[in-house]
Amino acid sequence: MSSSASCAGWRHDVDLQGFNTFGLPGRAARLAVVTGIGQLAQLMRTPEWSDGPRLILGGGSNVVLGGDFPGSVLKIELRGRDLAAEDADNRYVRAAAGENWNDFVGWTVACGWPGLENLALIPGTVGAAPIQNIGAYGLELAERFHCLRAVSLDDLSERTFDRDACRFGYRDSVFKSEAGARWLITEVVFRLPRRWQPQLCYADLAREFEGQEWGGVQPAQVMEAVIAIRRRKLPDPACLGNAGSFFKNPVVDPATLARLLAEAPDLPHYPQPDGSVKLAAAWLIDRCGWKGRRLGPVGCHERQALVLVNHGGATGADVRRAAAAIEHDVQARFGVRLEPEPTFV
Ligand code: FAD
Ligand code: EPU
Repeated sequence: MSSSASCAGWRHDVDLQGFNTFGLPGRAARLAVVTGIGQLAQLMRTPEWSDGPRLILGGGSNVVLGGDFPGSVLKIELRGRDLAAEDADNRYVRAAAGENWNDFVGWTVACGWPGLENLALIPGTVGAAPIQNIGAYGLELAERFHCLRAVSLDDLSERTFDRDACRFGYRDSVFKSEAGARWLITEVVFRLPRRWQPQLCYADLAREFEGQEWGGVQPAQVMEAVIAIRRRKLPDPACLGNAGSFFKNPVVDPATLARLLAEAPDLPHYPQPDGSVKLAAAWLIDRCGWKGRRLGPVGCHERQALVLVNHGGATGADVRRAAAAIEHDVQARFGVRLEPEPTFV
């Protein structure tokens, strides 16, 4: 993987293809695997740290690599998880940023601390989960979030962010802003209410429990159902490179919705608490004929039009070209702008 390693842990000229689930090619000028906070401080004091751009990588499941990266990559593998505190109403469960998200969810459920099961099988790390406020099957991370610890990439200062400071939104947080991107998340604490009820409102999930009394459903059953749905619908990055949903679901105003419904009465739409309406990007892309279609080595998945896949040998430029063609077609047919979800590096 590397030609040489410095004592602080930098490896030079590192192949990044195995570090992103899209399987896109590119080499980093240098990369260090971070397993301790002390080592992190040591790395940030080396001259290499000030040489070129910086990139924090967890599982690489939400990045589009544009090619070679001319700076420093920190691959976060900080480990550890525990029950940090509990009170009459809640358990506060803590995990280090490098913990695998799905393993962490499975562990909480096995410990008898449910609440995260709807988010099972989302790839990646605990530390990246707050970045875009991961969400699935009727739950967003923000609903179970207590606080996180982060280290400044500029001056190594440490800070605790509570829920308000994170400014969570749909696939969004302060960490996606220019100022927020200067923080490296080291650990996250989740607040899991002792009083648990299954959240089965998402149509696909409700279907799994059809005919059953929801009151008797156990957390592990919800987790298994979510895992089963995801395995049916989403391509496994180990077999077919991808970064999950490539575009966010567009949020429009009621006037835009009315215009769209006049043309397409079967358009799926989900009213939001603030009066806006979320559309299904997958449906818009599907209706433009992109499901299963390819442009060069990149295509829309045959079972989920919102997932762009690497059919082999794709580069970041190929992904951008396919994404631009899809954005163009959706804009031309529906007058709706699609916004990519992953981070472009
Ligand atoms: P990376 O891809 O490594 O990084 C993503 C971003 O976070 C980058 O900007 C990176 O710099 C930053 N980052 C990573 N770690 C840290 C850290 N410790 N501190 C500061 N910044 C950091 N997402 C959903 O929300 N819902 C889904 O249902 C879902 N399904 C998916 C299904 C598949 C098959 C795939 C491939 C992806 C899916 N995703 C989903 C997207 C992705 O899994 C999540 O966004 C996940 O949280 C990314 O974790 P990661 O560790 O791989 O992050
Ligand atoms: N649909 C189509 N064609 C398709 C696929 C879906 O018309 O090819 C329609 C479905 O019939 C449904 C609607 O689109 O009416 C929504 O589809 P789905 O339930 O599969 O969810 P999604 O909106 O495509 C979102 C998230 C996923 C998350 C699932 C489940 C975004 C951008 N995506 O997908 O998150 O797992 O809901 O909650 O919000 C991710 O962010 O990477 C991701 C995978």
